[in-house]
Amino acid sequence: MPVVEARRVTRLFPMAAGPIAALRDVSLRVDAGEYVAISGPSGCGKSTLLHLVGCVDQPTSGEILFEDRDVAVLSEAERSRIRLMRIGFVFQRFFLLPMLTARENIELPQAEAGAAAADRRARTRELLEYVGLADRADHLPSQLSGGEMQRVAIARALANRPALLVADEPTGELDEQTGEQVADVFDRVHADGTAILVVTHNPALAARASRRVTMKSGSLVS
Ligand SMILES: Nc1ncnc2c1ncn2[C@@H]1O[C@H](COP(=O)(O)OP(=O)(O)OP(=O)(O)O)[C@@H](O)[C@H]1O
Ligand SMILES: [Mg+2]
Repeated sequence: MPVVEARRVTRLFPMAAGPIAALRDVSLRVDAGEYVAISGPSGCGKSTLLHLVGCVDQPTSGEILFEDRDVAVLSEAERSRIRLMRIGFVFQRFFLLPMLTARENIELPQAEAGAAAADRRARTRELLEYVGLADRADHLPSQLSGGEMQRVAIARALANRPALLVADEPTGELDEQTGEQVADVFDRVHADGTAILVVTHNPALAARASRRVTMKSGSLVS
């Protein structure tokens, strides 16, 4: 069963000098529990595709189906509910809120989802243990290493038990060994049944995916 399906999507960005085709007629399906890695040169449209699949942006033509629902016909509130409840996002630069501790960063999406305080606390403790950071709960992001920040970001992304984890260069800021720790967490997420779609230049991370696709100038090539 597909979690998300891009059907012949094209994304044009209108610019003064003429439209830029970031994606041209791209089709990609990610099944429940599947682990897919996307690679390709800078500017080939990887992040643009993640934004469409993550229901953040919409295609100029073609369709995005998220859990069998056509994203184009949903209201902005419905799309934002999907992003909050069904998709977890992980970025190269972590994007933790700097004034909040690790624990508070992980609690935030649960609070937005309306979870009760006791449930949030229990879930957050479980997630901190899951990513191996139970002893860093009260650290601010500035008091964490890059690899620790990324593991907190992954815990935050998993907070509402999404069907799909979307990650854009999650090891891009990390050294090899720290990147491996993040890859290990992704392996566990996959083993636990969450689908993963990851954009990465890191061959060691891509090698762990169950399927690898390559992009070139706005198209999928394999
Ligand atoms: N908001 C935008 N407005 C105009 N052009 C854009 C916009 N976003 C992306 N583009 C263009 O679309 C193309 C694809 O961009 P995208 O960010 O998807 O590439 P990428 O594969 O993620 O690259 P990288 O590996 O460097 O992150 C690029 O040529 C980029 O300049
Ligand atoms: Mg990108």
